[in-house]
Amino acid sequence: MSRLTESSAWHDLVCHRQRMANVTMRGLFADDPGRFPRHTAEACGLFLDYSKNRVTDETLGLLMALARSCNLELWREGLISGRRLNQTENRAVLHTALRNRSDRPVMLDGVNLMPEIHSVARRMSRFVDDIHFGVITGATGRPFKDVVNIGIGGSDLGPLMVSEALRPYQTPNLRVRYVSNVDASHLYETLDWLDPENTLFIITSKTFTTQETMTNAKTARDWFLREGGSEADIARHFVAVSTNEAAARAFGIGPETIFNFWDWVGGRFSLWSAVGLPIALTVGMDRFDELLAGAFAMDEHFRSAPLEANLPVLLGMLGIWSINFWDASAYAVVPYDQYLHRLPAYLQQLDMESNGKSVDREGLPVDYATAPVLFGEPGTNCQHSFFQLLHQGRHLIPVDFLMAAESHVPFKAHHQILLANGLAQAEALMRGRTLDEAAAELAAAGTPPELAAQLLPHKVFEGNRPSNTLLYRKLDPFTLGALIALYEHKVFVQGIIWNINSFDQWGVELGKTLARTLLQDLTTGVSTGQDSSTAGQVRWLRERMAAADSDG
Ligand code: F6P
Repeated sequence: MSRLTESSAWHDLVCHRQRMANVTMRGLFADDPGRFPRHTAEACGLFLDYSKNRVTDETLGLLMALARSCNLELWREGLISGRRLNQTENRAVLHTALRNRSDRPVMLDGVNLMPEIHSVARRMSRFVDDIHFGVITGATGRPFKDVVNIGIGGSDLGPLMVSEALRPYQTPNLRVRYVSNVDASHLYETLDWLDPENTLFIITSKTFTTQETMTNAKTARDWFLREGGSEADIARHFVAVSTNEAAARAFGIGPETIFNFWDWVGGRFSLWSAVGLPIALTVGMDRFDELLAGAFAMDEHFRSAPLEANLPVLLGMLGIWSINFWDASAYAVVPYDQYLHRLPAYLQQLDMESNGKSVDREGLPVDYATAPVLFGEPGTNCQHSFFQLLHQGRHLIPVDFLMAAESHVPFKAHHQILLANGLAQAEALMRGRTLDEAAAELAAAGTPPELAAQLLPHKVFEGNRPSNTLLYRKLDPFTLGALIALYEHKVFVQGIIWNINSFDQWGVELGKTLARTLLQDLTTGVSTGQDSSTAGQVRWLRERMAAADSDG
């Protein structure tokens, strides 16, 4: 048994869970008209309704007791004040400093980080304005029309998700595209649309060594040279965002267009740094600043609000309740907001790369579940795909619903239909449909008794399935910043409860190492002793690749 599962706070929740076994949310709502106001909280433009969880006041009290017994408040202070929380990489975790809007210094090893952060932000801002106003042009003097960000993981998902989310704020005359996959079709299909004379490439890589990014970057450079650019022009058409200035320079990028950041910014937390350059190019630096201001507002809320009214703490602890006490091994995030269509993909890295761990901070195996499998799609699309399972499948999958009161586009009737659907799904998950209700509906529809008896079991919805709903006025940069920071801190809260390091990602290493060996095997045909399945696949692929080569 671990310290966590042996603790009295955990034990109290185990006992409470047993007492809650037959409690229904329907019943809780029926018995308590004050349930909604008591189980909602609001901050930074985000309104959280968590009343559709299988919780009572006692549950919340016990969850907060668990949070306190894990010293969450102390850890929270450690995050904001730059302690070396990422102990396996011996790094501080300070992405919050990037959006610090206060005049408080942020100290690391006796040095205030804020002047350097501001200096990079100023360089970014000048660069963005100069691109927008055509002061910086391509080598032939034409203003840039297309920007291609080449990066992967945190160097892609955050900026891409935000650029998509803020499309209504897009500056005219500049289009930002993203290439991440080493599958050449991603780059090929993108290059197809581009004119090298007015295209700017941003090579975004914290390490500037990531195989996929460097392969795409080199191919993009070859394309640029093949299409008429010269070596001397490279520095005018390629810029870098990286902590590895030497490698960026070796690639041919000039020091004035290398935008640096620091090892205390984790990849999946990096969109607030110069990694946000493609965002700023998409919407302008003022909007980017608003995004940061929203995140800062959430940081302030997280560090100062009491746990009971603290949005990230509530979301985090409700997740703990579902995952660890009701065995929810998956978790769906469903934005009823098409502009947020990449949010689930972004959150997959944030949540699963951070907390998909099996050993605790001391390296001991954990005896409790950690990060769930996160997935999602925009509503209403997913109502027509995986919602069947959410309603009637055997897995308990909590859902986060996200909805804006105001849409960015006209066609008001669409928005009302969209919201009605989101509200309906959350209600249906909670209420379900009993056998009696199903029977009454079939009878009311005049269904012949024999058919009704046959259909009846299929029409029953168990209900009592948990969800959170996050409402906001409109998806503007400030609100989006607050929303992202909310999820960042939620992940942090859960990592603290589970006593894991949420800031490393050793689990991605093995595949990278094996891929290097297998690349050699694929190109040389010399097998380096894999299992028979992998070796057999290499052989099979090599034969077809050779046949395709000789045909072509
Ligand atoms: O493979 C995982 C990872 O290290 C992520 O954590 C990171 O965001 C991504 O690769 C990209 O890394 P880089 O920015 O160094 O290219």
